[in-house]
Amino acid sequence: MFKGRVILAAMAGITDGSFANEVAINGADGVTIGGFNCHTSTFEAAVRINERGREEFIITPQELAEHIPNEINKISVNLPVIINLRFSDPHSKWMKGLLESLRSLDKNIIIELNSHCRQPEITECGGGESLLKRLESLENGIRVGKQYEFPISVKIRSSSLKEPETFLKLLRRESVDYRFKGCLAGNALV
Ligand SMILES: Cc1cc2nc3c(=O)[nH]c(=O)nc-3n(C[C@H](O)[C@H](O)[C@H](O)COP(=O)(O)O)c2cc1C
Repeated sequence: MFKGRVILAAMAGITDGSFANEVAINGADGVTIGGFNCHTSTFEAAVRINERGREEFIITPQELAEHIPNEINKISVNLPVIINLRFSDPHSKWMKGLLESLRSLDKNIIIELNSHCRQPEITECGGGESLLKRLESLENGIRVGKQYEFPISVKIRSSSLKEPETFLKLLRRESVDYRFKGCLAGNALV
């Protein structure tokens, strides 16, 4: 799916469709938009983060099914679009509604499950890297994404992995398609 290895990484409040389009036009091999909050708890956490001065996408979970396809349609270059999703409960009806809405788009979409974010507001409500301590929820998230037949990426901060073998077994068991190693200017495909 990827021709090369230069992929725009998610930056909440920044990497929307217009930003991704600029990067795509300038030669990226893939772009990420988001992180978007699929669950009321992660959305409310994002509002608190925004209030303390760190930019976030303040889009309610119920708006995502309309908002994200609009953002994707701003990307004029045909390349893989990774959608970074924060969740704490993969059975959120908003997350499922979003995935359903993405199915009709004629784009190379990859769903990136965010088990990487270390902002305390997100980890305290069970999202981001706290999912690495609740592997069952992460595994359920992977299964939900797979139900909609999207390639799945699980984004982690490798230094936060306490039991790498258990985690790797999970990825193998669920046949996760991509793993990204976070780095500052982009994500390296591993
Ligand atoms: C301002 C900013 C916002 C970010 N937002 C997200 C996000 O919403 N989701 C995500 O998975 N990673 C996010 N990242 C992480 C980046 O995609 C990348 O993985 C990161 O910069 C790697 O280094 P770090 O973990 O030291 O920040 C963000 C990074 C920055 C600098």
